[in-house]
Amino acid sequence: MLTLFVACAPGLESLLAAELTSLGISDVRGEPGGATVRGQPSVISTVCLRSGLANHVRLRVGEPFEVRHFDKLVKKTAALPWGELLRPGTRVKAHAVCRKSRLYHSGGAGQRVEAGIAKAIGPAVEGGPELTVAVRIIRDECVISLDLSGEALHRRGWRQQTAKAPLREDLARALLIVSGWTPDRSLFDPLMGAGTLVIEAATMARRMAPGLRRRFAFEHTKLDTSAGLQDQRKAAQSEVLPGLTTQLVGRDHIAGAVEAAEGNAERAGVAGDVTLLRAELSEPWPQLGPAHVVTNPPYGIRVGEASGVHNLYTSVGEGIRASGWPFGIVIADRRFVRSLGLSLQPKLTTDHGGIKVSYYAG
Ligand SMILES: C[S@@+](CC[C@H](N)C(=O)[O-])C[C@H]1O[C@@H](n2cnc3c(N)ncnc32)[C@H](O)[C@@H]1O
Repeated sequence: MLTLFVACAPGLESLLAAELTSLGISDVRGEPGGATVRGQPSVISTVCLRSGLANHVRLRVGEPFEVRHFDKLVKKTAALPWGELLRPGTRVKAHAVCRKSRLYHSGGAGQRVEAGIAKAIGPAVEGGPELTVAVRIIRDECVISLDLSGEALHRRGWRQQTAKAPLREDLARALLIVSGWTPDRSLFDPLMGAGTLVIEAATMARRMAPGLRRRFAFEHTKLDTSAGLQDQRKAAQSEVLPGLTTQLVGRDHIAGAVEAAEGNAERAGVAGDVTLLRAELSEPWPQLGPAHVVTNPPYGIRVGEASGVHNLYTSVGEGIRASGWPFGIVIADRRFVRSLGLSLQPKLTTDHGGIKVSYYAG
């Protein structure tokens, strides 16, 4: 049995716990910043490949230990079961945080942990893949965790072009979920930027596992074979639907945004499932049958931006009312909630690049 910490953006914890449970993981406990899950090693592949809301997967190495001196930190780190996890010569970078502890120099603590690991598995071989461990020393108690995902999981690999203020893929998925959109319904984003919401929706509707197009740090560890990644990749690949009957439409008035969205859709493998158009918000909205509007308007938090953005929100509200479609919307400044002129509820608050944003749906 392994115990993993699955990290997500703040505010998404309950959505993450529900998602992990829906992936068949039975032992899931929501916590601030993510969820703790317990399971067989295959759970690593399941989360990395299939979670659309997780950002990192970390494995606690051994048990927490008390430490007050650097030489003890090297010794106690070396005594942890690295040999079961890491291949000889693996390069490891340690990121330490020290609080309320005799050891307060985080850079020094990180170096000692790296030295301890090198003692256990042999010196790092230059040029090999680099893994990351997180070290937390709080009140003289040290916990060391190995990052199994590597680059944050919201980086699915397809979003290489961005327009203004792009929404992260995990945050886009969370908005789609709280809006109540389901893959059997069409979707419209009149302010799509680089198309993140529409493209993420297309991958959900096609049942493409979010991690299908990328690699993970644990592939460079001894956990690789026991986690059964190759088999899970094959299974996930075979579940992908060939096409969609719904329409997923994104529009933006900037040509560069439409171009970026087209490139992203191509890389995500959903170019044939989305319609990406250059159009002003005020142009007639598409006829889509049962649909949702899910959108991320400009935040309007820069000085002097507010009055133009107020008008924009008013137009979005008018469009939504005229369509009669349910909706989900990201708002950074509460003043714009009223500009929409809609009846709506706050669903969650999260952090987008250091800006506190709330999701509303109606
Ligand atoms: C915050 S960005 C959306 C980012 C997008 N969710 C993404 O992940 O890339 C808002 C977008 O609204 C577009 N926009 C602003 N005013 C518009 C208007 N009047 N008509 C159409 N698009 C507009 C901007 O060009 C910008 O790309």
